[in-house]
Parts: sequence; C-alpha cells; structure tokens
Amino acid sequence: MSQETPLNHPYRGTKAQACANIALVKYWGKRNSELNLPAAGSLSLTLDKLRTTTSVYFDDKLSDDEFFLDDAPSTTKRLSPWLDIIRNRAGITTRARVVSNNGFPTSSGLASSASAFAALAVAASHAAGLQLSDSELSVLARRGSGSAARSIFSGLVEMHPGTEADGSDSLATSIASADDWQICMVIAIVGGGVKKSISSRQAMDHCSATSPLYQAWIDSVPPDIKSAKEAIGQRDLEKLGAITEGSAMAMHAAALASRPPIRYWQPATLACLNRVSELREEGISAYPTMDAGPHVKVLTSISESRRVADAMSELSEVSEVIISASGPGASLIA
Ligand code: DP6
Repeated sequence: MSQETPLNHPYRGTKAQACANIALVKYWGKRNSELNLPAAGSLSLTLDKLRTTTSVYFDDKLSDDEFFLDDAPSTTKRLSPWLDIIRNRAGITTRARVVSNNGFPTSSGLASSASAFAALAVAASHAAGLQLSDSELSVLARRGSGSAARSIFSGLVEMHPGTEADGSDSLATSIASADDWQICMVIAIVGGGVKKSISSRQAMDHCSATSPLYQAWIDSVPPDIKSAKEAIGQRDLEKLGAITEGSAMAMHAAALASRPPIRYWQPATLACLNRVSELREEGISAYPTMDAGPHVKVLTSISESRRVADAMSELSEVSEVIISASGPGASLIA
C-alpha cells in the first residue's frame, strides 16, 4: 500500500452516498455463491439515518487497489474482485483508491454492507465512465452484497431473485418511495455495536447446508412478500408489521436449528423483544425485526417512534437508540 492516506492526499474522485436498509421480509440463503444470487426474494425499508459516503478514484499511479474505511486502511479482499467487474465492463485495468465512511457501527448487524456496496456501485461506475440505469446499478451492488441491491432505491423496495443463470434479472425495484409512505424504524443497539461473531454470508451458507428448517424458511418467503406488498398497497402498518416480525423469527428459527447453531441473540435482545410485545399490548404499532446481530429494530409509525425509542432506551444493555424515517436511494454527490 502506498504511503498516501486520505488525510494527506488531496481529495479527488467521484463521491456517492447510500442509505442502509433493513429487510422486512428477509434474505437468508443463496442459490449461487459465485454470482451472489439469492435463493428467494426479499423486501426492505431504506433508512435515512444509516448513511455511507464513498469516493472512488481510478489512479494510473496505483499498483494495487487501496481501501480506507472510516479513516483506517482496510482489506481489499472483497473490494478488488468487485472492482474487477467494473473494470471489465469499462475496459480498463486501472487500480482504484476507495475511501468510505459509515455514520454507524460497521459489521455488527446494522446492514453496513448494503449501504457500502450501493454507494460503491454508484461512485465506481461513474468514476469508470459508465452510465448505468438504477436496475444495472442494483445488479452490480448485488454482486458485492445481496442486501445492497435494495439500497439503490428509496423507501420500500422489493428484491427479485430472478431466473436468469447470469443473474441479470436478480435485482431490486421500488414499491413505494420514502415520500409515498413515511414509516419509521427504531433501532436498539445492544452490546455497543460490537463486531458480529459470524458474518451473514457464512451464517446463511452454514444454515442452508445444515438446518432442517432451511427449506421451510425459503418456502415461507414468496407468500410473505405477496402479503407484505398487499399491506403496503393498503398502507396497513399492522399487517406489514405482523409479516415483518414473522419473517425475522422464521429466519432466526432456521439459523438456530443449524448444526452447530447460529445464535445472534443476547439477553438484552430478548428484553427488547419482550418490551415491544408490551408496547403492542398498550396499543402501540411496534413490530420487531432482527438481522445477523443482537440488535432489535422496531417498525413503527413516525408519530409513535419517540414512545418506542424511549421504551427501548430504558432497558439496561441498550447502548444507543436510533430513530430513522424512510430514506432516499443511492446518489452521486460529487
Ligand atoms: C440478515 O446482504 O449481508 O441482513 O449477499 O452474502 O453479502 P451477502 O449477504 P448480506 O445478507 C443480509 C442478511 C440479513 C437479511 C437481509 O438484509 O435481508
């Protein structure tokens, strides 16, 4: 790696930003690891508060790709093969300097790979001189991380597993933009945003290989997506929330049944889930979901989000609470 760092190197490059998203109907399993093709669809909410900003500069002077994440040099193991896809497409061999900053804990089940590869798809394609549609950007982002395909779009988004062998139709589309239906997610961070013990990528592969509940999980996804889209069409938060909670619990049930088990849950996770159930008994629209980490994310309305956030904050071991409304799609900012 060269001695230049983002701190002493004059800023150059194409800059983009993208928001993370949280799946309401989860993606958990692949049908092709090489092309990163999901085994089933998924449905998500893009979140305004969880943003990644990334700049990409293709520089003839570089002998290797360079990656700085949150101001520290980082591994290019996942980045370089992905940049090769862009280079092949643009007909270039130039190495790139990539500088990325997350405004939230990285790699702890807060969907940082989603915003990361979505921002990267926009910045890198532009820096390489490619003019791509949102659908093409979604396909590219998916090659980096399945959930990233959804972060190209605003608000409520559907990921289509696709049928083509090359994955050209495995991409996301918009269902309702952030302006169409403003709903909210309250994120209760458990354990201070520590790095997760097993990545979602490794975990879903292990689950598909060993869990007796894996096929039942995959079979549950299409009807959940259909019902979730009906609920969105009707702006029915209660119906969407019930599917959201059910999909997350089914995904974690399949993961828990893996051999050996995959268990992201901490005692504080359960405390959050119990509190959300109580809130619902008190008449609040609050529906929990969880990803590959101990944090609990609660789908709710804008008007009830403060009450939900206060209830989460009162629990010991909840180190931080973030309230986020629906967010915009990925975009170029410089
Ligand atoms: C639990 O998108 O991180 O957050 O495609 O291997 O990069 P890769 O997986 P990734 O998986 C996300 C899993 C999840 C559920 C979801 O976001 O749908």
